[in-house]
Amino acid sequence: MADQYAQSGEDNRPTEIPAIRWDEPPEGPVLVLLDQTRLPAEEVELVCTDAPALVEAIRSLAVRGAPLLGIAGAYGVALAAARGFDVDDAANALAGARPTAVNLAVGVRRAQAAYRAELVRSGDAGEAAVAALAAARALHREDAEASARMAERGLALLDELLPGGGHRILTHCNTGSLVSGGEGTAFAVALAAQRAGRLRRLWVDETRPLLQGARLTAYEAARTGMAYTLLTDNAAGSLFAAGEVDAVLIGADRIAADGSVANKVGSYPLAVLARYHHVPFIVVAPLTTVDPDTPDGAAIEVEQRPGHEVTEVAVPQAPATGAGGGVPVAPLGTQAYNPAFDVTPPELVTAIVTEEGTVSPVTAEALAELYGRARQV
Ligand code: MRU
Repeated sequence: MADQYAQSGEDNRPTEIPAIRWDEPPEGPVLVLLDQTRLPAEEVELVCTDAPALVEAIRSLAVRGAPLLGIAGAYGVALAAARGFDVDDAANALAGARPTAVNLAVGVRRAQAAYRAELVRSGDAGEAAVAALAAARALHREDAEASARMAERGLALLDELLPGGGHRILTHCNTGSLVSGGEGTAFAVALAAQRAGRLRRLWVDETRPLLQGARLTAYEAARTGMAYTLLTDNAAGSLFAAGEVDAVLIGADRIAADGSVANKVGSYPLAVLARYHHVPFIVVAPLTTVDPDTPDGAAIEVEQRPGHEVTEVAVPQAPATGAGGGVPVAPLGTQAYNPAFDVTPPELVTAIVTEEGTVSPVTAEALAELYGRARQV
């Protein structure tokens, strides 16, 4: 059945897409972001010279995805320090810019701790700024390394669960280079399967309302030459019913201590579908996404976003006319329900793959054991 779908586009650009970089032009240090709100229409850079600009970029999703939010947050602290702004104020504003992805606060606090420790040690704000930047760079590098290790572990798990290869994987939202210092989380596993000749197709949910699947995952997949097909979110059920999905691979924004997984809204219905159709539902996330201080799914704060994201479609090339800059698709004044994430309970998750190991079945004990072991070394 899969072959009846038109072969998707391919191009020869590198598979790694630098989503963020630190630069030091003569005017002073800056953080340069690839503006993800403009993709795939245009590759436009957004230059942040201070933390408020970065907070705005985070809120507007110009920079997004849990691991990258952590990296951006850490660089944001380094930027405030290097430019002589109040580092604690900047750190608090950055950590609170979006509530669900725990990586953001983790990255911010790491750079802030490095800044403070060096300030106490040397009493020199310049040295402290250098320490904050070193912490951000280390997080960036570690995320790239974690990405490679998750890809390896994730592919091994797929091969174990689905002997024979020819994997047809369904994914949701966007989890590749655009959200990572490396090749990403779930997408990196699909890419590893592709390189090993064992990916038959990547099914890409469009991911309403902001189309991270259509705009961003398809953009990433097109660069790799992998066979990918885009579907509307509500087409997933019939795809499972047709026996076309061998596994679901998604990332995560926060994993609670009991193994509950917050990820882009629409992930939970996929987990329910996967269970009904006896298909593995696999979460791929770095340990920075696991939050031992959040006891369970009910304790995860789910970000609520403006209704205009639902009542309008903001497509980069389209003429913008609505209150949020998009084309209205609902009558004026329509109320909308727009949670950015949903929470999948651990009993619906087949496995959580991290760079330090895979937890399956997903239990609080197994997750605590992995987390504790990894954080001790
Ligand atoms: O609102 P977004 O685009 O930041 O949401 C991103 C996601 O939900 C991703 O799936 C998640 O961060 C995992 S990325 C590895």
